[in-house]
Amino acid sequence: MNFNEVLDQRRLLPLYTVKDLEECLAVGKCLVEGNLPIIEVAFRSDYAAEGIKALSSIDGLLVGAGTVKTTAQAQQAIESGAAFLVTPGLSAEVVEYAKEQNVPIVAGAVTPSEIMQANQLGLTCLKFFPADVYGGISALKALHGPFFESTFVPTGGVTLENYKEYLALNYVKAVGGSFILPKELLKAKDWQGLSSFIKGL
Ligand code: 3PG
Repeated sequence: MNFNEVLDQRRLLPLYTVKDLEECLAVGKCLVEGNLPIIEVAFRSDYAAEGIKALSSIDGLLVGAGTVKTTAQAQQAIESGAAFLVTPGLSAEVVEYAKEQNVPIVAGAVTPSEIMQANQLGLTCLKFFPADVYGGISALKALHGPFFESTFVPTGGVTLENYKEYLALNYVKAVGGSFILPKELLKAKDWQGLSSFIKGL
C-alpha cells in the first residue's frame, strides 16, 4: 500500500522519535501486527536517519520522516529510505525537492495565507500543527469554508481522548501524534500490549 492508501484506510499517523534502534524495530513490528503499517520518524534525535534505514527493513511497514525542516534533512531522509515526508511548517524549497524526488509530502500550514501558499505549491493535504494551539476542531471547521479543497492532518495535542472528534470531520485525512505509541508501553517494553493497543484504535 502506498502512503495515501494507508492514510485513507487507517487515518492515523504514528509519530516516533528514535532513541534506541532495538526499541525502534520492536515498535515497527508492533505497528505491522496492529494493522497500522506506517510510521513517521521525527528528525528530533541523532538516530533519525539510522532509524528510518532500520525500520525500512520491516516487511509491509511504510516508513517516512517527520520534523523535516531543511532540504538537507529531506535528502538524508529519502536516501535512508523515507517513503514520505512531513514538515512542521511550509518551506517551498523542501516541497519542491520532495516533488522532484517524487516523494509525497505533508507540509504544515495553519493560517489562510500559509494554506494558500501550500495550495499554490500543489499541496492539498496539509499538516495542521500544533493543532491544539491553533484552535483545534473549531479552527479546522472555519478553515474548511474557504479551503474546501484541502484536507488536514492535525497533530500536536491530539490525544486518545480527542482524536475521534477530529476524525469525525471528513476533511481530516488522518490524525498524527505520539499518543499512538504510548510512552508507558514503550518503557515497559510491552510489545504485545502495544500491538493490541494499536489494533484497538
Ligand atoms: C508533531 O510534530 O507532529 C507533534 O509534535 C506531535 O505532537 P504530540 O506529541 O502532541 O502528538
